[in-house]
Amino acid sequence: MPELAYVNGTITPIEEARVPIDDRGYQFGDAVYEYIASYTGRLFAIEEHLDRLENSLRALAYPPIPREEVRDAIMSIFQKAGIEQAGIYLQISRGVAPRNHAYSRQLQPQIIITVRQLPEIPQAHVTQGIHAITVPDIRWGRCDIKTVQLLPNTLAKQQAIEAGAQDAIFISPDGIVREATSANLFIRSGDHLLTHPLTPNILPGITRAVLIGICQELGIDVREQFFDRDALLAADEVFLTGTVTEVLSVCRVDDRVIADGQPGARAKKLRGMFEARAGKHP
Ligand SMILES: Cc1ncc(COP(=O)(O)O)c(C=O)c1O
Repeated sequence: MPELAYVNGTITPIEEARVPIDDRGYQFGDAVYEYIASYTGRLFAIEEHLDRLENSLRALAYPPIPREEVRDAIMSIFQKAGIEQAGIYLQISRGVAPRNHAYSRQLQPQIIITVRQLPEIPQAHVTQGIHAITVPDIRWGRCDIKTVQLLPNTLAKQQAIEAGAQDAIFISPDGIVREATSANLFIRSGDHLLTHPLTPNILPGITRAVLIGICQELGIDVREQFFDRDALLAADEVFLTGTVTEVLSVCRVDDRVIADGQPGARAKKLRGMFEARAGKHP
């Protein structure tokens, strides 16, 4: 099935898609994005992604873009590509203009979308868990806006890979555990699950919200509460949540093995529940 690109209404094979070099997304990182998965031929939580997109657009004072227009664009390229397990990347930049930090309010936002095969999580990562390193959180103060300014995230991920790990966990200057490079983070401490509250310092993950909902339905005590690196290392379980990550156990952090070094029962259960919710089980 073809991997396709959509650029302001025109759908082409990805290799043929072009954007102007004066696009402010390219020049200044002045663009927001969403990444939506189809786990089994159906876009998961699309309305929640559109809600978050609207929040990002509003936070950066982009002109409003009709929600139906964005939804129709996503659906048209998704249906045309016909990829069952697809990752839809949607990016909206403020527009195209000669390079200048200040911008005109009249700029026309540029919408690009790509549809590709959804990356598979390696089976070994699911069964054995992953290793993460901790890194200082050097990101800006509005990590709740889903912008394409991801250099600290890409550098941290690269640092993790080069250290033989799979991901990096951001720690604030005062020791608070934030999130991973493209996933939110939960720990289990006894009977409680803890995750960072929704503040400007983390992305409000869609998967995080779905997981919290599942926990509430199951009567699992989940608290949106700050915790530090010591609590992370002493946790009974650590797991990540995200559109690509789904629910993934972290079994080693820096040089410390978490609990018995195996994916924990709570994460396994929640992973199963998430897969069912995402329609992965017929
Ligand atoms: C920094 C960060 N945190 C968390 C997430 C998880 O968000 P979601 O569950 O909406 O994919 C992402 C996803 O890209 C992310 O980039």
